[in-house]
Amino acid sequence: MKRNYGANDQIRIAIIGCGGIGRHHYRQFARLSGQCQIVAACDVYQKHLDEFRRLTGRPDIEPYTDYRRILERTDIDAVVVATPDHWHAKMTIDACEAGKHVLCEKPAMHNIAEGLAMVHAAREHKRVVAIGLQQRSGEHFKEAVDIVRSGRLGKITTVHCWNVGNETPNGIGNPPDGDPPPGLDWDFWLGPAPKRPYNPNRCIYNFRWFWDYAGGKVADWGVHLIDIALWAMGEHNPTEVCAYGGKFALNDNRETPDTVDCIWKFKDWTLLYTHRAGSDYPLYGRGYGTMFFGTNGSLYVSREGLEVHPDKERIPAYKRGGSAQSEPHAENFLAAIREGVPLAVDVLTGVRSTIVPLLGNIAYRVGRSIRWDAQRAQILGDREASALLSRNWRAPWGIPKRYIKPIG
Ligand SMILES: NC(=O)c1ccc[n+]([C@@H]2O[C@H](COP(=O)([O-])OP(=O)(O)OC[C@H]3O[C@@H](n4cnc5c(N)ncnc54)[C@H](O)[C@@H]3O)[C@@H](O)[C@H]2O)c1
Repeated sequence: MKRNYGANDQIRIAIIGCGGIGRHHYRQFARLSGQCQIVAACDVYQKHLDEFRRLTGRPDIEPYTDYRRILERTDIDAVVVATPDHWHAKMTIDACEAGKHVLCEKPAMHNIAEGLAMVHAAREHKRVVAIGLQQRSGEHFKEAVDIVRSGRLGKITTVHCWNVGNETPNGIGNPPDGDPPPGLDWDFWLGPAPKRPYNPNRCIYNFRWFWDYAGGKVADWGVHLIDIALWAMGEHNPTEVCAYGGKFALNDNRETPDTVDCIWKFKDWTLLYTHRAGSDYPLYGRGYGTMFFGTNGSLYVSREGLEVHPDKERIPAYKRGGSAQSEPHAENFLAAIREGVPLAVDVLTGVRSTIVPLLGNIAYRVGRSIRWDAQRAQILGDREASALLSRNWRAPWGIPKRYIKPIG
């Protein structure tokens, strides 16, 4: 399956999952058409597959409803996994075993065991596996990280990430279970998750708010913000985590909290994440972002730009706007395949950044502080919390147990 790419060779890509972000990926790779070609697309929802081909104006893209048929094709080099979180690991591992390179969306996995397996599958099969934490490809995020690391802000004592907004009173609403829409293969959509009746909120987009498929706001948005915090601080293994909150604000059928605060303990700093869906009042004047608090000043960074705010005039104030993230992230993936350049977010980095919010969710779900041994990939002394490190995959969608081992 090894292939050497010439300067004029196009990397042939298939997109698996043709919803919101799958379409976004199409647009990024289409701009890089000299370097790659989208040749196939897969979805278990016929409507999304049809829309994808219509919106892209590319009826020649071959449609699939079973991703395994794509993996069998020997003329496809890489796949983009743009399905809900509960499919990420299975598809990534299957793709590695089939000799494909992978760009897998964030959060890298649904549960921590799956993340460990993704890292070992990529290593064993020597595949380029990138995670869609595209903020790391933005120039202004790189500059923010450089500023934090330069020491200019002084000693960083705490980093706060947050998403706040007001979705009251009804959030995503409370629709009854019912029949899936025509053309949706609900059983295939569920895949490794438990079999259950269709509910519209559990499916397109809103799957994010159900534990069977995803990890709520902490995993969905928190992972982007936390990833930047970990990158800048150069650490990724917290030793203790606590998280409290609940469904305090919204009358809807979501399972994940609409109000939650998580704290991760590192040796000499703390990481915080706040989510509120019941109040619009911004934190530090902003609806979302990552804020580094240093003894000389603070740094705010989001997709829109970065700002340095001095403490006691110890450093100059500084401000700049945002920079492109998705297109350079796609380009980096292609360069990694073609020329072996380092990935902006390789699978190890993406999995480590996803473990942190997933630990926050575990602490929230058991309702107490947990201790994490990253070297052994174990939660210490808490059987109930440890059970949430993995899942029972519904047959036939299990992943080989031999890949599930610590990553350090
Ligand atoms: N990097 C980012 O900024 C970013 C932004 C949005 C979404 N995401 C991530 O992308 C993923 C998808 O999110 P979305 O908002 O596009 O969701 P979505 O519901 O709009 O799209 C997901 C698509 O996957 C399809 N799908 C489900 N199971 C499938 C299967 N077995 N085979 C093929 N297709 C299948 C669904 O039918 C749907 O069309 C999530 O993990 C999300 O966190 C990342």
